[in-house]
Amino acid sequence: MDLGALNPEQLEAVLHKDGPLLVFAGAGSGKTRVITYRVANLIYTHEVPPSQILAVTFTNKAADEMKERLRYLLGMDIRGLWVGTFHAICARILRESGRAIDIPPNFLVYDESDQLDLIRQVLSELNLDEKQFNPRPIRNAISRAKERLIMPEQYAAQASDYFERIVASVYPRYQSALQAANALDFDDLLLATIRLFTEQPRVLERYQQQFRYILVDEYQDVNYAQYVLVRMLAGAHGNLCVVGDDDQSIYRFRGAEPELILRFKHDFPDAKVVTLERNYRSTQPILDAAFRIISQNRVRAPKRLWTDRTEGAPVTLTPVSDEEEEARLIAEYIQRQVYLGRRRYGDFAILYRTNAQSRAFEERFLRER
Ligand SMILES: Nc1ncnc2c1ncn2[C@@H]1O[C@H](COP(=O)(O)OP(=O)(O)OP(=O)(O)O)[C@@H](O)[C@H]1O
Ligand SMILES: [Mg+2]
Repeated sequence: MDLGALNPEQLEAVLHKDGPLLVFAGAGSGKTRVITYRVANLIYTHEVPPSQILAVTFTNKAADEMKERLRYLLGMDIRGLWVGTFHAICARILRESGRAIDIPPNFLVYDESDQLDLIRQVLSELNLDEKQFNPRPIRNAISRAKERLIMPEQYAAQASDYFERIVASVYPRYQSALQAANALDFDDLLLATIRLFTEQPRVLERYQQQFRYILVDEYQDVNYAQYVLVRMLAGAHGNLCVVGDDDQSIYRFRGAEPELILRFKHDFPDAKVVTLERNYRSTQPILDAAFRIISQNRVRAPKRLWTDRTEGAPVTLTPVSDEEEEARLIAEYIQRQVYLGRRRYGDFAILYRTNAQSRAFEERFLRER
């Protein structure tokens, strides 16, 4: 296997074998590459059986990409390796072993729209009008509670305002309705796995022995339940590698606790820490502009990205009075660059925050065509 595609810090993280490892790094610095190469190196150099490695990704797509990459690096299909999101991994563990806590292997997994249907059903049982009590915030509140491992009784005991008391009355009924439907929602996949491991220590022990190496990507976005699960699984051997970037935590609104990555060093005082600061995606002017903004965050680990691509246009900020003017200025800029022969249309990308904002651009471009 060719480790020449790694810089010295990445190599250090990849070669570290046993014990906790925190890879702390900025955007585009090769965190996912480190995870992938670490898995490959454990299999190739240390002959760790793939079935003893658990790699957690943030999305299903990222899991597929990692498998594809490993196939390429190792020149073969790796059977038995566990790569997936927390939800996918928990679902698999529960289908294998959930019987021990009375979860049948054929349970259903409810998505958000199933959840909302169920909450509507509970609201009507409680004679609460769904026009007055919007099911969505109730669903979200229950989800936030579950991510923090707060069960219905405890939630009810802590409920402090009118909305929370409504949620407290829905929550236990919602759980019963899930159970009656032989279903788990996404949060339950984690909760039930934690319950399985807590109530059946022998089952936990079996998985601890199976997963001798655990790797977690995008660790800045784990929520409390996911954190607890990782600690349980890695508890016996501590061969846990987490990679993440506190600056990139964007999921606090749905329960992520970026403090957990900063806490890793307290949880594992003997953890090896590797910081990746070399960026492979952007030019230095872009990294500098990003740094000037992010460095004003009060709670963040110190790091500063650099690249050897020192050249590059500066980032410009152009205030405009409305969306039409914005679209016009951008269209004119693109036209001009293409006209001067500096760029082709395919060199440009326009990012906007919500789909509705594409309209002004589409209209402008149609007109300029
Ligand atoms: N040592 C290296 N040499 C050349 N290219 C590299 C190196 N390390 C990473 N890259 C490239 O940089 C890009 C970013 O890598 P990667 O996705 O692993 O970074 P990341 O830190 O996980 O990014 P993100 O913050 O978006 O999760 C990829 O295109 C990758 O191929
Ligand atoms: Mg990544």
